[in-house]
Amino acid sequence: MRENVITVVVGKKGSGKTTLARDLVLAAPRRIIMDPMWEHTDGVIVTSFAGFEAYVRPLRRARYAVICRFMDDDDRDAVVDLLTDGEPNNAPLPSVVVLLDEVDRMCSPSTIPEGLRRLVNYGRHFNVSLVAVARRPRQMHRDVTANADRICIGQTQEPRDLDYLAEFIGQELADRAAGLGEHEFVVWPDDLERPPAPVGPPAVELPPEPTPEPAVPSGEGALGTPDPEPTPSE
Ligand SMILES: Nc1ncnc2c1ncn2[C@@H]1O[C@H](COP(=O)(O)OP(=O)(O)O)[C@@H](O)[C@H]1O
Ligand SMILES: [Mg+2]
Repeated sequence: MRENVITVVVGKKGSGKTTLARDLVLAAPRRIIMDPMWEHTDGVIVTSFAGFEAYVRPLRRARYAVICRFMDDDDRDAVVDLLTDGEPNNAPLPSVVVLLDEVDRMCSPSTIPEGLRRLVNYGRHFNVSLVAVARRPRQMHRDVTANADRICIGQTQEPRDLDYLAEFIGQELADRAAGLGEHEFVVWPDDLERPPAPVGPPAVELPPEPTPEPAVPSGEGALGTPDPEPTPSE
């Protein structure tokens, strides 16, 4: 993945967002995955900011893939703060790719944590690329969608979501998005092919990992109650 790129992935539940986002970041040598639904497996799982720091600090310039399954939202925000700390242009960390799955848990149309705001607006200065995933584009703060270099749109039926997207991607692509099949995506601006499956060694040699407890099945509902699917009349 090119450096300092902001990618937004949207589509209804089950459209393949998590799978596509995983594919998009898999080749990155340093990646941090926010995994509130406990779905990601390609990396080392940490369950607190302290665990994150202990694992990542020594690996700063090496390769790592860390999956954050935090109980505490403050821990999640602390990771993003860490990445965007310091003066712009004085990159605090070597380039890193951050995948925020279910980013609507982290921001809303009217609220955005300061670290995420810095990341989407000034990520270039911090050497951070972002993949932000949500079912509906309007679940994200507009700073996220407005700064997107690339928008991947999966199955989306809600007309108002397509109208919102059309503002960014144009009516023609939005019309194509309206007719997508299962696990199909259109990509704005260049309508890239789905990225090929990565080749080569995994990003990290996985040491014995701290496994979060209790073991619950992955997938929606694994952690608390997922947000209900929005209704068209919303
Ligand atoms: N390109 C694909 N080909 C085949 N199956 C896929 C593809 N993308 C996703 N899936 C499967 O579809 C289901 C939903 O995918 P997921 O990525 O979790 O969707 P979302 O994150 O949008 O809810 C999963 O079981 C996943 O394995
Ligand atoms: Mg998902």
